[in-house]
Amino acid sequence: MGKRVSLTQYLVEQQRMHGHIPAQLRLLIEVVARACKRIAISVNKGALGDVLGSAGTENVQGEVQKKLDVICNEVLIEANEWGGHLAAMASEEMDGIYLVPNRFPQGEYLLMFDPLDGSSNIDVNVSIGTIFSVLKKDDAHAGVSEQDFLQPGSKQAAAGYCIYGPQTTLVLTVGDGVAMFTLDREQGSWVLTQDGVTIPEDTREFAINMSNMRHWAPPVKRYIDECLAGKDGPRGKDFNMRWIASMVADVHRILTRGGIFMYPWDKREPDKPGKLRLMYEANPMSFIVEQAGGAATNGHQRILDIQPTKLHERVSVILGSKNEVERVTAYHRDS
Ligand code: AHG
Ligand code: MN
Ligand code: MN
Ligand code: MN
Repeated sequence: MGKRVSLTQYLVEQQRMHGHIPAQLRLLIEVVARACKRIAISVNKGALGDVLGSAGTENVQGEVQKKLDVICNEVLIEANEWGGHLAAMASEEMDGIYLVPNRFPQGEYLLMFDPLDGSSNIDVNVSIGTIFSVLKKDDAHAGVSEQDFLQPGSKQAAAGYCIYGPQTTLVLTVGDGVAMFTLDREQGSWVLTQDGVTIPEDTREFAINMSNMRHWAPPVKRYIDECLAGKDGPRGKDFNMRWIASMVADVHRILTRGGIFMYPWDKREPDKPGKLRLMYEANPMSFIVEQAGGAATNGHQRILDIQPTKLHERVSVILGSKNEVERVTAYHRDS
């Protein structure tokens, strides 16, 4: 193995070479990474740390909160509120925005997170994660409100996720490609293990919750039917399927070996655009996927171009290998 590059070194180099990562953003990312390290320790303790099971509360979207949903949310807030880089935070697990308390200095960044992604997998010991996204507050006015968060994903200054799996890996983009860092537990440090991550343009692997098939819209049904028809169908090749039910784990596989991930609109909740959250899940993942050469749409437009209208906005998600995402998007156009 060659020289080890740490997350700190990577970020300092990004700052020096490209100038577009200000020191404040670099420090903010380091704090988030440190919080993820703490979360990894809790996740690993499992039953021994009394972190499994339900918290007995509900979040604003009507989901029952797991203990870890609440713990991870607290860890992220505690780690980030005092650093002076942030104006406010928002999370899947909080009804409104969280203002940095007055006793701490205020910064210019806005941090959004899905503190624990893949809640249904916590108790069964399957990979879960933390997803985050960073925006810059428009500094034309003082104070901060929910309105400041309602910026399209194309404005993200940084995005990433940490996956707690067989390895703990931090995946990051600051708009200059995608880098992966593996947690070295003995040293307690993040080590760069892959840079310039790229998603192959073509794939033979799809990820979708097939149990919802009867609820899908025709373009999604058409695409999956054609995949299932295999070699003898219109695609002329066999497809494999994976569905982990942790977006972080499904996206991580796609960054590693290609594939397409879909959580489309379906008629179980006809009035909602989809299940996944634009600000905490779709935007950060779409930024990462595009930075790795993939694509991300809601079937009609690029996810990063969507102008959000509310904090907990939902969205239909189709992302991964470029040619497949373009195909599903074209099927929506034709329908
Ligand atoms: P969260 O645990 O943050 O609420 O997110 C769960 C999401 C996402 O990670 C995953 O892709 C999807 O929900 C799984 O949904 P189904 O259980 O409907 O397959
Ligand atoms: Mn949830
Ligand atoms: Mn999630
Ligand atoms: Mn979550």
